[in-house]
Parts: sequence; C-alpha cells; structure tokens
Amino acid sequence: MFEHLDILPPDPILGLNQTFQQDTNPDKINLSVGVYQNAQGVTPIFKAVKKAEQQLLAQQQTKSYAPQAGDPAFIERITSLLLGSELVTSLGERVATVMTPGGCGALRMGAELLTRSNKGATVWVSDPTWANHYPLLQSAGLTLKPYSYYSPETHGVDFRAMLESLNSIPNGDIVLLHGCCHNPTGADITPTQWDAVIDVLEERDLTPFIDVAYQGFGDGLEQDAYGVRAAVKRLPQVLIASSCSKNFGLYRERIGAVMVITESVKQTQAAKSHILSAARCNYSMSPYHGGGIVGHLLSDEALTKEWKEELESVRSRMNSLRLGLAKGLNEAQSKIDFGFVAQSKGMFCYLGISREDVLSLRSEFGIYLLESTRINVAGLSEENLPVIVERVSSVLTR
Ligand SMILES: Cc1ncc(COP(=O)(O)O)c(C=O)c1O
Repeated sequence: MFEHLDILPPDPILGLNQTFQQDTNPDKINLSVGVYQNAQGVTPIFKAVKKAEQQLLAQQQTKSYAPQAGDPAFIERITSLLLGSELVTSLGERVATVMTPGGCGALRMGAELLTRSNKGATVWVSDPTWANHYPLLQSAGLTLKPYSYYSPETHGVDFRAMLESLNSIPNGDIVLLHGCCHNPTGADITPTQWDAVIDVLEERDLTPFIDVAYQGFGDGLEQDAYGVRAAVKRLPQVLIASSCSKNFGLYRERIGAVMVITESVKQTQAAKSHILSAARCNYSMSPYHGGGIVGHLLSDEALTKEWKEELESVRSRMNSLRLGLAKGLNEAQSKIDFGFVAQSKGMFCYLGISREDVLSLRSEFGIYLLESTRINVAGLSEENLPVIVERVSSVLTR
C-alpha cells in the first residue's frame, strides 16, 4: 500500500530546529524558532490565561460537543478584539466568525471557501511571505503568485513597487496581506500606506485575505488592527484569518478564527455555511479548549486587563531587545547599518547578511538563523545579546 512513498524532506524551519537540538556546541543559540521566549528561554503561559483555564475547568460540566462554529463567547469576543466593538455593531450579521484549529486552520478554511466560490482562484502573496502560506493555500486548490513587497537593498517595504504590483493584478483576484508584524521580514506598511493599498483593492475589485497572527506584538492591540479595520470599513468583502497562538500563548491548543465579511447578510450566511461544510469534511469541528479559555478570559474584565498588561510587557521586552541588537551591531561594525532592525515590528526580522555568513554563524559559532536571514527577536536575551553581537560582527568584518 505505502511501498511507493518516498520519505519527504523535513519542513525547513522544523528541520533546522532538529539540527539545532543535535548540535553539541555548548554555546549554541537558536534564533530560528517561531515562538515567543522569555529571558529564561521559556515560552511562558500568560498568568491571566492560566487563571482563565483553571476557572473554565472548574466550571465545566460536560465534554460534549460544542456548537460547530465554536464557543459563542469566543466568537463574539475575538471578533470584537480584532474589529473593535463599534465596527462589529455596524456590520451586524454581515460578519460571521468560525473557530478554527489555529491560524493555520483559519487560513485553510478561508482557502476552502475561496476555492468553493471561485475554483482555481489566484491569491497574490507578498514576496517574501510566511513559507507555510504556499502549501496551506495551494493544497486547497488555489494558485499563488507573488507581488512585490520587500527590498533587500533598503531592508524595508518597497512601497512603490508594491503598489505598482498590486495595480497589475487582474480584477477579481485575491490579495493576501499580513495584518501586522510581517513574517518573515518584520517590515510593515504604515496606516497611510494601508489606505493607499485599500484604494487599489477598491478600484480593482480585489478581495483581501488578511492574516493576523501577531495582534498586540507590533504597536499595540488597537494599532495593529488598523489595516484590518480600514479594509472592513471600506471594502464590500474581506476574509480574515486570526490566530491566538502568539498573543494568548496558546500555541499547542490550536486556536484561531476565520472571519468573513460580505456586502449582504445572505452572502455572509452562505459563506459561513461553506466554511462549516469544509470543516465538516476535514475535522468536523475545531478543538474547544483554547477557544473556551480565550472566550472566558475576554468575558472577564479583570482577566482581560491582566492579559493586556502581560502582552504589553512581552511587546516592550521584544522592542528593547530589538533596539539593543541594532545599537550593539552598529557600534561593533560599520559594514551594514542595522537601524532597520530597530524599526521592525513583531517577532521576526531579516538580518540582511549573506547566506555564506548565515552558514558560518551556524557551523562556527552555533548561532542558528534561517537561510533567508530571518531571526526571532524573542530568541535574544540580555545574556546572549553581547555574544550574538560579537559573533555576527566578527563574521561580517573578516
Ligand atoms: C504569518 C502567520 N500566519 C499564521 C500563523 C499560524 O499560526 P498557528 O496556526 O500556530 O495559529 C503563523 C504562525 O507562525 C504565522 O506566522
């Protein structure tokens, strides 16, 4: 039955992690992981999340199936967290939210909806984009093509090229946008640039599919939702994939949400029914636990306040590490101006060094970053920062 199957190569990011685990260098440092880590290198459970979980478990009377669309409290609160309560009220039943297994589940269910409504549709993704966008969306039957986004020369968004590229996309296609904290580059567009992008989407009848995996990791919960809210306010239809993995630290619970906004209640109901049908064909319904925790937490004022404060401290810790790295590298060498590292948003940024230097850092010094030069800022710590600065600058200046 399975004798003709070849063993597939490991996922590039997970595979590098494995290589790191096997590396015997006692001074090794892993900057390639995709999770937040505290100063001790631990991915902590938010205190408010732990409390919400304990309360939820104490109250829970049954493990029977939850509604197929997910925990009602979760659905209501997560939609408001992202869109804001005013916008949610004005949309009424033009917005529908379905709980999903993580942001990946949301991306996949969004992709299934797009395939069902427009077989073989083309989704345009930023160049570069999160590597998993390709398999997740393509295997649902969508065609993916890149639009210009990042300039390795300026280490930032080439906004002129981006607009030009978006302006050449055929009417009616789909554009995948990162809501905030672009993965892998950390280079985001500004609110004014979002407005200009939405102008193009409006003119060319393009549908945005917005991936929000890091709300609260960039400039703050409200600020990070600017692009999504502006798109929803102005465009007739928007598809959103949101993840609670990072901002609630619920990675392994697999909790996210797919949201669909259309111009009529009827269309939204139809779209929702197709999402539910796609879920039924795949895994029937999302795991409940993570959504139960988030729904409970966001329904409790004190827990919500505590969680927001914890999230804020995560954000400011990453910002101070990012500033420390930029300053340290600029003081230690003059080959590259690393000011752009200080400007980057969220958990990731490109270091912009050569592939050869990435490989030397790995083999000679046990410093692991992706070949694209993506680093996880949260992999830095007050302790390892001077070591990283010294090793990166020594590789750069020889
Ligand atoms: C850009 C982006 N989208 C979506 C996700 C989905 O995350 P998850 O399925 O773990 O919620 C991630 C996770 O790394 C991501 O970086």
